[in-house]
Order: sequence, then C-alpha cells, then structure tokens
Amino acid sequence: MVPSKQNTGKFSIRKATETDLPVLVDFLAKLALHVAGAPPHTLKIEERERLMDALRSSLSDPDKLIVVAESTSTRLVGMGYLYAWRNQGIWEQAGDVELKSGIIDDVWVEPDFRKIGVFSAILRELVAFAESHDIDELVLEYAVSNQEAAATWTRLGFKPTGVRAAAFTTNVRNALAKRQRIRNLQSGSIEQPKGN
Ligand SMILES: CC(C)(COP(=O)(O)OP(=O)(O)OC[C@H]1O[C@@H](n2cnc3c(N)ncnc32)[C@H](O)[C@@H]1OP(=O)(O)O)[C@@H](O)C(=O)NCCC(=O)NCCS
Repeated sequence: MVPSKQNTGKFSIRKATETDLPVLVDFLAKLALHVAGAPPHTLKIEERERLMDALRSSLSDPDKLIVVAESTSTRLVGMGYLYAWRNQGIWEQAGDVELKSGIIDDVWVEPDFRKIGVFSAILRELVAFAESHDIDELVLEYAVSNQEAAATWTRLGFKPTGVRAAAFTTNVRNALAKRQRIRNLQSGSIEQPKGN
C-alpha cells in the first residue's frame, strides 16, 4: 500500500483522493492536448463527467492506483496511474499460468515542476504497488513525437519493444483496393464488378 505521504523536498507524493478528481481531469485534458500538439481548450461537460467517472472508479479498484504529487502550497503538480493487467500466456494455456503486467498511463507533471524528480517520485510508488501485486513488467505507450516522454522513459529504464502503428480506416481500405488491382493486373484477371 502507498504511504499516505512521502516528503521529497518541494513536493510530496500520495495516493489520489476524490477531492483531487477535478484537477486530475484538467491534467488529463492537458495531456491529451500535449500529445495531439493542439492548443489549450476547454473540455465539454460530458467529456469531463466521463473522465471524472473513470477516475473515480479507479480510486476504489484494488488493481488500480492513481498517485499524485502535491506542492508545499498543496497545489497538485503531477499524477501517474498504474493498473494491473492479467493475461494468459499463449503457450501456457494448457496450465493456469497467468501473466501480469502493470500498465502505466495518464502521466502528467505541471511544466513548472518538471525535471526536479516529481515523476520519478510518483513512479517509485507505482513500482511499489506493482511489486505488491506480483507484477514484474511495466508497460506504457508514448507518441514517437513526444521527445520529453522518450527521454524520461529511457532514463527510467524503459526500452521500446514494439511499434504501435495507426492508420485511418479509409487509407487501409484504399491500400487494400490498390493492392488488389495490382494483383489482378499481374495475374491478367478481370476486376470483379462492385457488389460481387
Ligand atoms: C514526461 C514527464 C512526466 C517527466 O516528468 P518529470 O517530473 O519532469 O520527470 P523527472 O524529473 O522525474 O525526470 C526523470 C528522468 O528523466 C529525465 N528527463 C525528464 N524530462 C526530460 C527531458 N525533457 N529531456 C531529457 N531528459 C528528461 C530527467 O533528467 C530524469 O533523469 P535523471 O534522474 O537521470 O536526471 C513530464 O515531462 C511531462 O509531464 N510531460 C508532458 C506529459 C507527457 O509527455 N506524459 C508522458 C506521456 S507517456
């Protein structure tokens, strides 16, 4: 269990509570805009409510932990979230081997509190929580364009292990159609009329 407070100089680290939720929603909004490279704007009320509900349910879930950093003036200055993810190893399905990963998400530190170890302190708590849940692998995603995230995660021991690729559905449909036309031309077959 996370200690209620851990003093680390100019800020302290603790488990998030219900009263933190409005600020945490603001952090998530800033994070989404940061990742998208979009200018600040206000969240729609329904979106705010949805995020509040999601965060609220995490507070009472024993497999999830939200940790916050608080400045000496009790202003929240950062957050981090981890949830335990269970999956059956594909080669172990004959037995009852369960793999457990800790998924790290929703990481935000206010700009004026960066590079002074706030996130490292949050991560220490997430790691302790993961270990208390017998989780020995931590997993996270960040955008390739997010240079500070890449730098931070590398410093903290994370290495890329895969590539997450994304495409618009229409682009994939067009690519498939193009491939099909090329294959048809190569094989000399006549393109099927639409609807067949
Ligand atoms: C990424 C982020 C959470 C880092 O938080 P932070 O509190 O500044 O991190 P820390 O101070 O604990 O730094 C951890 C390590 O990363 C390094 N680091 C942090 N930011 C860095 C940067 N911009 N460039 C290079 N190294 C950086 C620190 O020097 C430190 O390494 P050290 O201990 O060897 O000195 C913060 O920059 C942030 O909120 N960014 C915007 C949101 C975001 O990108 N979230 C992650 C999405 S996955």
